Amino acid sequence: MHRGMPKPRDDLLGVAIDVSVELGKMLLNERPTDIQTDEKSSPVDVVTEMDRAGELRARQALARYRPDDAICGEEGVREPGTSGVTWVIDPIDGTTNYLYRLPLWAVSVAAVVDGRIEAGCVHAPAVDMTFTAARSLGAHLVQGGHRSALSVSTAGRLDHSLIATGFGYGSTRRAGQGRVLAEVLPQVRDVRRSGAASMDLCWVAAGWLDGYYERGLHVWDYAAGALIVSEAGGDVSWLAGGAIEPLLIHDGEEPTLIAATPGVKDELHAVLIAASADQVP
Ligand code: IPD
Repeated sequence: MHRGMPKPRDDLLGVAIDVSVELGKMLLNERPTDIQTDEKSSPVDVVTEMDRAGELRARQALARYRPDDAICGEEGVREPGTSGVTWVIDPIDGTTNYLYRLPLWAVSVAAVVDGRIEAGCVHAPAVDMTFTAARSLGAHLVQGGHRSALSVSTAGRLDHSLIATGFGYGSTRRAGQGRVLAEVLPQVRDVRRSGAASMDLCWVAAGWLDGYYERGLHVWDYAAGALIVSEAGGDVSWLAGGAIEPLLIHDGEEPTLIAATPGVKDELHAVLIAASADQVP
C-alpha cells in the first residue's frame, strides 16, 4: 500500500485501489523489453501482451476480494456475477503510450451498481498519480504519499480554457475528429492530447484542464474518470444531451462525451454542436 492511501478495506473504493495498485506494479516492473503486440480494430490500434496479462491479474485479484461480482474488461474478460456489482476495467488506458514508454498510461477500475458508478480509481504508476473517488465522498489524488482533495478549475471563459481531446483508431474517424478540432482550436486557449482518456478526465477533476471531449470512447475508458470528475464538481454528459448514468455496460463505442468545469461547459457544448462533433463517422 502506498503512503497516504486509505487503508485496505472491504469497500468498493478500497478494492478498486488495491486492484489498481497491484496491476500497476506488475505493468511497471514486468514490462518485457521486446513487448509483443497484436492489431485490434485497425493497424494502429494495438493490444500488448501486458494489456492481456493485466486484465487476467485484475480478474484474479477481484476473485480474491469479491468473488461474487461481475467483471467487464477492455481485453474481453466477461465474468457474470450475483452480487449486483460490476467492475469495469481498462488494464492499460493509454496503450500506445505504454508501448512507446511514454509515462502517461493508467489502470482504470470502476465499480458500478444499478448503472451508478459507486467507486473509481485511475492509477498512473509511471507518474506516481492515483486518482480516486467514491460516490458522495469526493475525489482525491494521492501523489508522493500525500492525499489531497480534487476540485475542478474556476475557469469561466472558453477562450481562456485548456481543453483536451482524443482520437479513435480508424482513419475516417480521425479525419472527422481533425475537422472538429480545427473548429475548436481557434476558440480556446490551447488543446492537449495525452493519449489516455482516463487521465484527461482526472486532469479535468484536478483543475489542470478546463474541459475534455471525445467521440467514440468505450465504457472502460471513462467509467472511473467520470465519477472522479463529477465528485470534483465537474459536469460529465453526452453532447447530444443527457447524463451518462444509468451507465450502460456494453462493448460499443459511445457518442461524444464532454467533461468540463461548470463555467465553460455550456460554451464548449455550443462549439461542439456547431462543429457537428457527433456526426463524425
Ligand atoms: C484510448 C485512449 C486514448 C483515447 C482512445 C482510447 P486505449 O484507450 O484512452 O486517449 O483517445 O479513444 O481508445 O486504447 O489506450 O485503452
